[in-house]
Amino acid sequence: MAGFSWYLSEGFQVIIEKSKDAKCSLKDVQLRFLCPDDLEEVRSLCRDWFPIEYPQSWYEDITSSERFFALAAVYKSQIIGLIVAEIKPYLKLNAEDRGILSRWFASKDTLVAYILSLGVVRSYRRSGVATMLLDVLINHLSGPVAQPPHEHRVKAIFLHVLTTNSEAIFFYEKRRFRLHSFLPYYYSIKGRCKDGFTYVYYVNGGHAPWGLYDYVKYVARAAWRGGGLYPWLWGKLRTALTIAWHRSTSKKKVMLRYKDI
Ligand SMILES: CC(C)(COP(=O)(O)OP(=O)(O)OC[C@H]1O[C@@H](n2cnc3c(N)ncnc32)[C@H](O)[C@@H]1OP(=O)(O)O)[C@@H](O)C(=O)NCCC(=O)NCCS
Repeated sequence: MAGFSWYLSEGFQVIIEKSKDAKCSLKDVQLRFLCPDDLEEVRSLCRDWFPIEYPQSWYEDITSSERFFALAAVYKSQIIGLIVAEIKPYLKLNAEDRGILSRWFASKDTLVAYILSLGVVRSYRRSGVATMLLDVLINHLSGPVAQPPHEHRVKAIFLHVLTTNSEAIFFYEKRRFRLHSFLPYYYSIKGRCKDGFTYVYYVNGGHAPWGLYDYVKYVARAAWRGGGLYPWLWGKLRTALTIAWHRSTSKKKVMLRYKDI
């Protein structure tokens, strides 16, 4: 079992299996939050990983603002991976992202985490670095220790991904993110429109809106467990059988009386 060092005392506990053909040992990978000095390094990494050109203000924000959970994996003093997420009120999401949660969660207290960026240097991929970064984020949002100021109010972690980005799709599906929606022409890349997907991972009891299948499953499960519906149905059935039995016996008695006459 491999571990890793953590620069800041956040109290996270993450257990990671090291893959057999890893290019770096996860126990030598350190984690720390991004700081303004990382701006140039982060910009050159993002240019390599993503086809989108981000403005200077975006790099300034993610390397300095406390609004973002911006975590770097560092190996031999070099950033080899990073994850950037933002925690937002659910009610303030754009129209295309509303609906990732069931309407039961449509309250001003509900929060969601949006992954803006997750990337790993090519030569270190398939070593578990992205898994480690994502695990720290998930643990931060839903671990046993409630982290202020969101204290388990984050019900979903979601992201957008190009439909052609199979590496990322394989990764998120392996990590049990669920495909939520198809976003036609969501991205504009070098003047061309590209489609996207929304993927969601539910935490802290959050769940997707229910479909017919979920309702049928719920009723069937409640009946199976006998939770309310089963005794009610059984009671009705017993009453119906008793009435039917009384009717049939009283009919027989009447017929016998007629015979006697
Ligand atoms: C997606 C990405 C972050 C994954 O990083 P990584 O450190 O290689 O991921 P991990 O090593 O933690 O992979 C965990 C699992 O995900 C799956 N996975 C990851 N990359 C995969 C690939 N290229 N093909 C198939 N499965 C893959 C595997 O199941 C893998 O487990 P395994 O290695 O034991 O088989 C990385 O490929 C990357 O930086 N891509 C470019 C940036 C990007 O597109 N980011 C996503 C934007 S939304």
